[in-house]
Amino acid sequence: MKFGKKTIRSSADIPYDPERSDTLIIYRSRKGSTLEYAKWIQESLDCDIAPFDRKYLGYSILYRNVILLSWLRSSEIVGLKLIRQNHLRFLLPEKHVILGVTGIAEPSKSYEKYIREINFGLGFDYASLHLLPGRMDVDHQGASDRFMIRAFEKSQYDGMTKQEAEVFRDRMTRGWDGVSRQACLGIIQEIQSIRKEEKNDPDGE
Ligand SMILES: Cc1cc2nc3c(=O)[nH]c(=O)nc-3n(C[C@H](O)[C@H](O)[C@H](O)COP(=O)(O)O)c2cc1C
Repeated sequence: MKFGKKTIRSSADIPYDPERSDTLIIYRSRKGSTLEYAKWIQESLDCDIAPFDRKYLGYSILYRNVILLSWLRSSEIVGLKLIRQNHLRFLLPEKHVILGVTGIAEPSKSYEKYIREINFGLGFDYASLHLLPGRMDVDHQGASDRFMIRAFEKSQYDGMTKQEAEVFRDRMTRGWDGVSRQACLGIIQEIQSIRKEEKNDPDGE
């Protein structure tokens, strides 16, 4: 990977910039709930943020911590395939990587395990996973939303127990809003504790 004229092969090749934050958030959001989490986390950690776009993903090489935020669509973390395929190029194994994923399913241990099985792999298995409560706004669904929901109908309940599938179906059809600032505290605290360890800073700031 190139940065300016310099070829970056490991974190040691990265030019030091005291103005640059230690953490980058990369987010992907269709209806806005993941973006809300991205903004809250960015505010709390005072870090850099970029949309989940091929041209920005490479910036992750410049940071020590990378927070990837996306959403669940039929158990698949949207966009993660691109990360899995390129994680070595982006030097992600050398970094602290957090994956925050919004969804409307109950975040049970068994569902989380299933989401890991489906989405991790190709050596990309080191990220910590946080399932974040998302939103389903049935009052503002356009034709493309309805088309997508129908297209993914068959595989939507994969990995859920019968009871979890019922809760999911209810939220999907009647709508649900689980988005709260509180829910992303786990991600914020994980970065703060790394900062504390690295700088010996009791507040992690
Ligand atoms: C077609 C479709 C499939 C979905 N599949 C899942 C799923 O498998 N698991 C889940 O927890 N949520 C699922 N959801 C809910 C979304 O992940 C949730 O609405 C999320 O908050 C969307 O994020 P955004 O607001 O950032 O676009 C699905 C939503 C749609 C439209």
